Amino acid sequence: MSVMSLYVVDILKKPTSNNAKILLYHQPTRLDTMFIDFENLTAGQCYGTMVQTIVPRPIAWVLTANGDGSHNLAPYSFFTGICSDPPLLMISAGKKDAEEEKDTRLNIRERKDFVVHIPSTRHLAQVNSSAATLAHGDSEVDLAELELISIEGFALPRLADCDIAIACTLYRFDEIGATPQAVIYGEIRSVTIDDGIVVPQDNGRLQLDAKKLDPLSRLGGSFYGGLGEILAANRPK
Ligand SMILES: Cc1cc2nc3c(=O)[nH]c(=O)nc-3n(C[C@H](O)[C@H](O)[C@H](O)COP(=O)(O)O)c2cc1C
Repeated sequence: MSVMSLYVVDILKKPTSNNAKILLYHQPTRLDTMFIDFENLTAGQCYGTMVQTIVPRPIAWVLTANGDGSHNLAPYSFFTGICSDPPLLMISAGKKDAEEEKDTRLNIRERKDFVVHIPSTRHLAQVNSSAATLAHGDSEVDLAELELISIEGFALPRLADCDIAIACTLYRFDEIGATPQAVIYGEIRSVTIDDGIVVPQDNGRLQLDAKKLDPLSRLGGSFYGGLGEILAANRPK
C-alpha cells in the first residue's frame, strides 16, 4: 500500500470534519491514477468519460418501421437486458439536434415494435455506416442493401444475415435529463437464433457458441471490439 492510500484509509476511519470528507473524495488513492470528478464536467465530458470507461458495450442494431413501408436501422450501445419477468431490455436514444428525435426513437414511440440484432464482427462496416444521420424516411437497410426476412408472428422483419434477432414491443418510454434522453424499454416477444451457433444440449438448456456468434462490441471513440479469449469459471455456491 502506498503512503497516499494509507493516508486516505486513515481519513476513512474518522471522517469527522468537512475537510476530511473533501480530502477523501479528491485525494487519489494512488499517485499514478487519474481521478475524474463528474461534478466539474460538462455533459460532453461526462459522455466522453462514460464511453471510454464503460467498455465493452454490446451493440443493439435496431430495426424499426418508418411508416412509409421502409425500414430504419441504427446501432445503439447504451443497451442491456434489465429484467426477465417481464423479459425486458433497454436502449437509450438521444436526439439528432435540439429539435429532432433520432429516427429509431421516433419510430418506436409511434409504432411500438422494434427488432434488436446482435451484430457480428463481420458486420463492422455496415454497423458503422448505419450510424450516419439520415433524413427521416431514408432507409439504411436499402442503402446497405441488407436482406430482410420475416419473423414468425411479428409485424417487422429481421436482417437475414444476423445470427440473433430479438423482437420487442415498447413496454415503457422514459425521458430523462437535459436533452432529454429517451430510455426505451422493450418487452421481448421472441428471439430468433441461427442454428449454426446453437450447441445441442441434452438438458434442454440453451447454449450458444459465442465464438461462432463473434459479437461486435463498442469501445470508446472509433474503436470496436471482438471477443478475444473466452474464460470460464463456475459460480460460487
Ligand atoms: C456503435 C454505435 C453505438 C451507438 N450507440 C448509441 C446510443 O446508445 N445512443 C444514441 O443515442 N446514439 C448512439 N449511436 C449513434 C446513433 O447510431 C446515430 O445517432 C444514428 O444516426 C441514429 O440513427 P437513427 O436516427 O436512424 O436512429 C451509436 C453509434 C454507433 C456507431
